[in-house]
Amino acid sequence: MKKKYILPNQNEERKRQKEISYESFPNYETITNLGEGKKYYLRTYGCQANVRDGESLSGMLEMMGFSNTDSEWDADVLIFNTCAVRQTAEERVFGEIGNLKRIKDKFPEKIIVMCGCMPQEEVVVQRILKNYPQVDLVFGTHNLYRFPELLKEVIEKKARVIEVLSEEGRVVEDIPVRRSLISKGFVNIMYGCDKFCTYCIVPYTRGKERSRKIEDIIKEIELLKANNYKEVILLGQNVNAYGKDLGVEDGFTDLLRQCAKTGIERIRFYTSHPRDYKVSTIEIMKEYPNIMKSLHLPVQSGNTNILKKMNRGYTREDYLALYDDMKARIPEITFTTDLIVGFPTETREEFEDTLSLVDHCQFDMAYSFVYSPRSGTPAANMEDNIKSEEKKERLQELNDKLAYYALNNNKAYVGKVLKVLCEGTSKTNKEVYTGYSEENKLVNFTGPNNIINEIVEVEITEAHSFSLNGKVIENK
Ligand code: SAH
Ligand code: SF4
Ligand code: F3S
Repeated sequence: MKKKYILPNQNEERKRQKEISYESFPNYETITNLGEGKKYYLRTYGCQANVRDGESLSGMLEMMGFSNTDSEWDADVLIFNTCAVRQTAEERVFGEIGNLKRIKDKFPEKIIVMCGCMPQEEVVVQRILKNYPQVDLVFGTHNLYRFPELLKEVIEKKARVIEVLSEEGRVVEDIPVRRSLISKGFVNIMYGCDKFCTYCIVPYTRGKERSRKIEDIIKEIELLKANNYKEVILLGQNVNAYGKDLGVEDGFTDLLRQCAKTGIERIRFYTSHPRDYKVSTIEIMKEYPNIMKSLHLPVQSGNTNILKKMNRGYTREDYLALYDDMKARIPEITFTTDLIVGFPTETREEFEDTLSLVDHCQFDMAYSFVYSPRSGTPAANMEDNIKSEEKKERLQELNDKLAYYALNNNKAYVGKVLKVLCEGTSKTNKEVYTGYSEENKLVNFTGPNNIINEIVEVEITEAHSFSLNGKVIENK
């Protein structure tokens, strides 16, 4: 008989019930009662791939009978789903896990778990073994689905368990999921990365590119749609490479078409890589109104010499040509990006090329970072000859420019009407709704009751650098 697990409805706003089939889940009979009457606290760092993994961790915990808590003190199991992309991110995690020693000393029965990208680094596991005895369970990104069994081992054997796999292995489907948002569902389309940008640790922590089967992706989207989700966010480190490992040519375009045909109201995808962009993808975006015309297209640097040292596989001119071509084909398209300043050997002139590229592209928003050396990556062996002060100044100069264009672009929306997916009320003011427009603008707005999870028309009244204010147009 097909067994079904129905997640408990914890969130007041979440009136819709999720059904998750877990018959194919390994040994589920032995783990389903492990968490009865117990609570978990989950902290997720890093990118959306990690957020989606966090949703699987919650799903597995709730399958085991655990319920969620926001308090570290109240929790029986504390999970830290970590990110390794920059040293600062890692130090924060070590700081927080360090602080837990106090809780663990008082309540030794509490279980502390570290998972995600950090344990995929040998140095991190060594540091945990040496200095953090309070951590009971460590596992990595390749064996996420093993979490229930590993936790069972810790509980039953009262032993410390470390299981980190160096090989990525197969794609595992049907892991239970507790979605973190009510309107938008994250859907992995592929795992891993084969690009090996010289500064980046992700190919080492997430392994080779592995695409999910198209039918599994569509099944997940259909289920989200049936559960009244309005938006799907397709996830992959470089989504344009979708299908390559399955021997499919132009797989991402075909996937986008099939996703669009499900009729889900909104589709977005993160992250695109400029190197593999195909005209067919842009044309598909143009053809289907439910594929949102906002693109996150990380450029990293505006200087060809630095891009080469980064192993990005495109020049400044290639990026600008792609940007201009997309704008010409879809004039309303909006762009966001990622930028790194202070890459080893970057001169003032080379940095200025990044500034001038920003002047050309006038991004709506950008994530900007100071280069952080990651052990084991090629860039970590390059001569890092830029003073830390200089790096900080470059970041500030870049951020000022980015904020200028962000505000300027937003001002153009004042007086216009945008279609906004209402995702809930603002954290600071329950009278104000919040959501994202088709252009991916964060909009705070007032409006009538009962519009959560609806797409509403909002007239924009005010612009800030990173958000817009407005009010719902009634009696349409
Ligand atoms: N797959 C995505 C990004 C993944 S990491 C892509 O290729 O665009 C997210 C961002 O972190 C990157 O775009 C990059 O800007 C930044 N990043 C990665 N490694 C970094 C490092 N060592 N130092 C500083 N920023 C880094
Ligand atoms: Fe990292 Fe480059 Fe892969 Fe993005 S494409 S995850 S920056 S190696
Ligand atoms: Fe961080 Fe891992 Fe994502 S290193 S950015 S959580 S893939």
